[in-house]
Amino acid sequence: MSIAYLNGDFLPLSEARISPLDRGFLFGDGIYEVIPYYQGQSVGLGLHIQRMLNGLAEIEIDCSLSAEQWRNLLNDLIEKNSDQANNLGVYVHVSRGTDDKRYHAYPEGVEPTIFAYTFAIKDPEPVDREKVTQYSLISTEDLRWQRCHIKSTALLGNVIHFQQGYSAGSDETLLYNAEHQLTEGSACNVFIVKDGVVLTPKLDNQILPGITRRIIIDSLKADGMIPVEERTISMEEVRSADELWITSSSKEIAPVTQLDGHSVGSGKVGEIWEKAFAIYTAAKFLY
Ligand code: PDD
Repeated sequence: MSIAYLNGDFLPLSEARISPLDRGFLFGDGIYEVIPYYQGQSVGLGLHIQRMLNGLAEIEIDCSLSAEQWRNLLNDLIEKNSDQANNLGVYVHVSRGTDDKRYHAYPEGVEPTIFAYTFAIKDPEPVDREKVTQYSLISTEDLRWQRCHIKSTALLGNVIHFQQGYSAGSDETLLYNAEHQLTEGSACNVFIVKDGVVLTPKLDNQILPGITRRIIIDSLKADGMIPVEERTISMEEVRSADELWITSSSKEIAPVTQLDGHSVGSGKVGEIWEKAFAIYTAAKFLY
């Protein structure tokens, strides 16, 4: 039985209930995280918790749990669900809570709603250019809002963009701004490789500061063999890249071999992907 956490209690997921006046439900007024655990070992737990605390502070949700208390809570939830699957993702969601009316202003004296549950995730992909799953993407102009650095539960903009790709038979939708500069994917960050250099858009309000992105950059820098840069990337550069990757907590580093019906680089999974994924795989549990 899948066990969830809701406002201080562990209970069967099927019994978890919230009010329809919860501001998460009415307004998407909340912050969330998705954290992977492979065989009980988390990837980037501290970084995920810190990003959540930053998001909560930015939208002024006062949640009294410390980073240490979050760590214990999420680890306890994983422990209680360890019979469910070898690898589990934790979804954790903090909304501003339930008011007694629908009114846009932040209410006073309302306790945040805290919900978390686990779900089975796949084994990591093989570090093998010939065997790894390849992705096919379409691209479109990023029509979300201007606060994409906040991991908000209000995901309609992302959902619409993901659906555009899904309806077109592709795996994800790559997004660019009005200046034709790469932002991210509808549910992932994006990297390109050109002439042996790994490039990814720098952090600003147009993209989520992905934890997988952070671990890739830091582990590549620590390894020292592959140069990596965070900077503005034009869509021309994306279209002439040697390699294209999408990254997230659920996909890790996924190689993209088709974009808008054209081959990326040679049309095969690249050499740098294989090296970078090996470096990431060796380092990921250290974060
Ligand atoms: N998505 N950008 C967006 C818009 C995302 O939704 C995600 C993650 C990322 C990658 O972030 P991270 O490496 O921290 O997972 C980037 C999650 C997994 C989701 O919504 O399910």
